[in-house]
Amino acid sequence: MEPNVENKGKIKENIEISKGIYLLTLQVPPAFPLPIPGQFIHVKVGEPPQFLLRRPFSIFDYSSEKGELRIIYEVVGKGTLALSKKKEGEELDFLGPLGNGFRFGDEKVVMLVGGGMGIAPLHLAGKVAHEKGKIVVSVLGFRSKERSIMVEKFRSFSRNLIVYTEDGSIGERGIATDFFQEKRKVEELVGEILGVNSRKRLIEEGCLGFITVFSCGPRKMLESITRICEKWNLPCQISLEQFMGCGVGLCMGCVVRTKGGYKRVCTEGPVFEGGFIEW
Ligand SMILES: Cc1cc2nc3c(=O)[nH]c(=O)nc-3n(C[C@H](O)[C@H](O)[C@H](O)COP(=O)(O)OP(=O)(O)OC[C@H]3O[C@@H](n4cnc5c(N)ncnc54)[C@H](O)[C@@H]3O)c2cc1C
Ligand code: FES
Repeated sequence: MEPNVENKGKIKENIEISKGIYLLTLQVPPAFPLPIPGQFIHVKVGEPPQFLLRRPFSIFDYSSEKGELRIIYEVVGKGTLALSKKKEGEELDFLGPLGNGFRFGDEKVVMLVGGGMGIAPLHLAGKVAHEKGKIVVSVLGFRSKERSIMVEKFRSFSRNLIVYTEDGSIGERGIATDFFQEKRKVEELVGEILGVNSRKRLIEEGCLGFITVFSCGPRKMLESITRICEKWNLPCQISLEQFMGCGVGLCMGCVVRTKGGYKRVCTEGPVFEGGFIEW
């Protein structure tokens, strides 16, 4: 079971970065553990009885020098609305960092595939991957230009950045998984990145073996990227969203069906091997 990591942080900034989407920066206590990308915090957005449950948010960014943690969130209901009203200087009560994050291996290329607010945990994952000397390729999908947030942040650590919007108002028209419709396109990109020019050599040397995919976004997108990765024999880790109660493994309110039985998203997840989930 996760330790009950109770924390309080001072809000340094809580600003609307696009319509209904906020960036919140928290000053965390000095003893705050270094978060693993993909972990989340469970935030007390208000007082009971109106707010009995905390709300989970992925850690979008973290600076150990500044002791700052950032989340980005969309106002979708009363909890996120209450959070959006919080002001600079207010104290925020939260649990975290919680859950299991993305696991790095000996891959050379980390491919981030994010849809909508699902880009949140991928940002820290990409930043850390880059710091580890890995090549980062980001494929991000949004509804429209207006909803395309934090693209420049991803550009700062990405070797290649491909943006899709459903209405084509920025980048390519479509959704993030469209990029994977053609294996050849991906092989060419990876071949170019790794300096393997000939497609034949690329296949012989199995360049797809150098890639790991990290993904977060709508469930349908995660299922789809999992299927593609299975077909291509690519390792794929996905971060799942699920309704949460306690956030620390006690209530079983967040379970999902996996090949290993029911697992708690808050504790065994939110990051799982895509192929482990019973979609
Ligand atoms: C591990 C994890 C990380 C998350 N990270 C982020 C993040 O970085 N940024 C962000 O904006 N949101 C994130 N979410 C979703 C966020 O927790 C919910 O949007 C939030 O709890 C909604 O609270 P509310 O009271 O405003 O909405 P509610 O009134 O509770 O619900 C309003 C709407 O939001 C949907 N919803 C509520 N809770 C969830 C949930 N847990 N997952 C999916 N849909 C939900 C409901 O279906 C409903 O349509 C994350 C969820 C999880 C489980
Ligand atoms: S939210 Fe309670 S066990 Fe996961």
